[in-house]
Amino acid sequence: MIGNLNHVAIVVPDLAAAAAIYKKTLGAEVSEPQDLPDHGVTTVFVNLPNTKIELLHPLGEGSPIQKFLLNNPSGGMHHVCYEVEDIFAARDKLVEEGARILGSPEPKTGAHGNPVLFLHPKDFAGTLVEIEQV
Ligand code: CO
Repeated sequence: MIGNLNHVAIVVPDLAAAAAIYKKTLGAEVSEPQDLPDHGVTTVFVNLPNTKIELLHPLGEGSPIQKFLLNNPSGGMHHVCYEVEDIFAARDKLVEEGARILGSPEPKTGAHGNPVLFLHPKDFAGTLVEIEQV
């Protein structure tokens, strides 16, 4: 069902510093920061030849990644995002398999303007999984 790895997301305490590591130290192509108020995050995308790295920093009160940053003050890997062709078909199949959707079962619009859903890490080998319709 899942296709390409769309991105790996890393929560960082300092977005500019993390972007500089990817741009200067690692020599990658890095986007400008983008605020996503619906998701409570600011993102910077690192574009690699075969996938992306999504650098995440909390935005506003009650950001869903605030607690993660408190528990991991130097930052850390937060989730992986897999592409699916049809997010509703994927959701229904996953629920049928016993997987839990985090939050509303209705897809939200993600960082690339595509519908996304998040799946419970306890159902996926301890890793928070995002699925994105591409
Ligand atoms: Co993501």
